[in-house]
Amino acid sequence: MDKYAVIGNPIKQSMSPVIHSAFATETSQDLEYGKLFAEVDDFKPVVDEFFAAGARGLNVTAPFKLDAFQYADCLTERARSAGAVNTLALQEDGRLLGDNTDGPGLVSDIRDNLGWQIRGKKLLVLGAGGATRGTLLPLLNEQPARLHIANRTVSKAHQLAEDFQRFGSVTAGGLEDIPAGFDLIINASAAGLSGERPHIDASVVGPDCCVYDMVYGAEPTPFMRWAEPLGARTADGLGMLVGQAAEAFHLWRGVRPSEAPVQAMLREALR
Ligand code: ATR
Repeated sequence: MDKYAVIGNPIKQSMSPVIHSAFATETSQDLEYGKLFAEVDDFKPVVDEFFAAGARGLNVTAPFKLDAFQYADCLTERARSAGAVNTLALQEDGRLLGDNTDGPGLVSDIRDNLGWQIRGKKLLVLGAGGATRGTLLPLLNEQPARLHIANRTVSKAHQLAEDFQRFGSVTAGGLEDIPAGFDLIINASAAGLSGERPHIDASVVGPDCCVYDMVYGAEPTPFMRWAEPLGARTADGLGMLVGQAAEAFHLWRGVRPSEAPVQAMLREALR
C-alpha cells in the first residue's frame, strides 16, 4: 500500500491523517497516511529513512518547511516563491518534488468554497512572516486590483512587497497607516495564535468587505469578532487547512477530493 505521512514537531495535534484518510475513502484510493515526529535537528535522517522504506509523499508542518525546501530535489514555482515546502512528492524519475499548497488552499477556500471574489478587488494582507510569503504568489495570480501588505515591523512588509513586485501591484506599510476601504482582508499574522488580533483602524474595512483569518478554532477568532460588527463577512482558516491538503492529495494521486464534507466533519470535531 502506498505510504504517506505528515512530519512536524509537535505532531500529535495534526489533523492531516484524518483529512487524508477521508479523502482516500471518498476517492477509493488505497493508501496509508501516518504521523512522523522528528527532533528539530533531525529532519533529514528521519525523512531519508521514510522514503528509503518506500514512501510516496510527505506533508511538512512547523518547524520543518524550510528544511523541506532545502531537502527537495526540485521545486514548483509556488514553492520557490514561498521559500518553503509543505508537500514532498516522489516523481517517476525518483526525484523528490517540493511544492507549497498553502497558498492554493487559501485561494480555493476563498474563491470556490466561500465564493468571495479576489480578481479586481482591493486586497489587504496583515503580517509579513512565512504565512504571508507562502500565499502571495497564488493570491497575485488571481489578479486583485492591488495588494497591500501591512505589518507591525514595517521593514519586513517592504521587503516582501519588493520581492513580489514583479508578480503584480504590491504596496506595503505599517499597521497604523493602512489606507481605507479594502474589499478583502486576510489576517496572516501570528497574532491569533496567542488569542490576540492585529490592531488596525476600522476604516480599512470597506463596504461589502470580506475578512479571512488564517487561524481557526472552536469559536470565531478575535479578528473575526472585531470585523463582524463592522459589517464584514468573515471566515476562519479551517477551509484553508482542508484546501492545502486537497491540493497535496491531488499532486500525489491525480484526483481531486471533495473539501466540503471533510470541512464539516472537522468543524463538528472542534465543537
Ligand atoms: P508565520 O510563519 O506564522 O508567518 P512568522 O514568520 O514568525 O510566523 O511571522 C509572524 C507574523 O505575525 C509577523 O508578521 C509578526 O509581525 P512582526 O514581523 O512585527 O513580528 C506578526 N505578529 C505576531 N504577533 C503579532 C501581534 N500581536 N500583532 C500583530 N502582528 C503580529
